[in-house]
Amino acid sequence: MNKHISLSFGTDAPLIEVITTTRAMRRLEPEPVPRALLEELVRSATYGPSAGNNLTYQADHFDRTPALIIACYESRGPILRMCHTFGRQLIALRTLGTRHTLTMLRNLRRSMMVGEAASIYPGVQNLLLTARALGLAASMTTWHTMFEREVEAALGIPRHVKIYAIIPVGRPAGNFGPVTRRPLADAIHWQHW
Ligand SMILES: Cc1cc2nc3c(=O)[nH]c(=O)nc-3n(C[C@H](O)[C@H](O)[C@H](O)COP(=O)(O)O)c2cc1C
Repeated sequence: MNKHISLSFGTDAPLIEVITTTRAMRRLEPEPVPRALLEELVRSATYGPSAGNNLTYQADHFDRTPALIIACYESRGPILRMCHTFGRQLIALRTLGTRHTLTMLRNLRRSMMVGEAASIYPGVQNLLLTARALGLAASMTTWHTMFEREVEAALGIPRHVKIYAIIPVGRPAGNFGPVTRRPLADAIHWQHW
């Protein structure tokens, strides 16, 4: 697969090698990816940690190149759960008291936004790593956010479902290889900023 350095492929490829050689692979061969492999990618994604299991993945264009895996969050999930557990929520709020309840409500929107995004991206990373291990080209994209309504309409995705990433997948036309990242010493602060 790689002409320059020897890389491991398959489900037993060494984890650190896979992590350090998972590139954004955008150049694709025309041949489509079998549905079973796309399912493997989504299966890996479902193993990511998530707040409340409201994730769904739509596989689109799967008979073409690139196939699109669309990572979505069903925003009605947490609201419905809150409604079902309304009694317990009220007890919790009474225990918190007025001041802390107001602080919590002030931060609720941000907390939900962070929770939604943070529920999606661990799964997406699992998907990208699995694609690399299986020798498939994939890349994370968020360009759809510029045309969110149009993309939702084109893909038939309902309004209460939010798209957090679109991952084009195909057979690689380029090579996998080491990614370039800044040195560890620049990325880590020990005990001070
Ligand atoms: C939040 C996020 C959004 C991204 N959006 C796009 C995108 O819209 N289009 C794209 O081609 N790549 C996108 N990427 C992929 C990055 O461009 C890629 O990870 C970066 O260029 C590093 O490439 P490398 O991993 O091959 O070193 C995105 C990555 C992240 C984390």
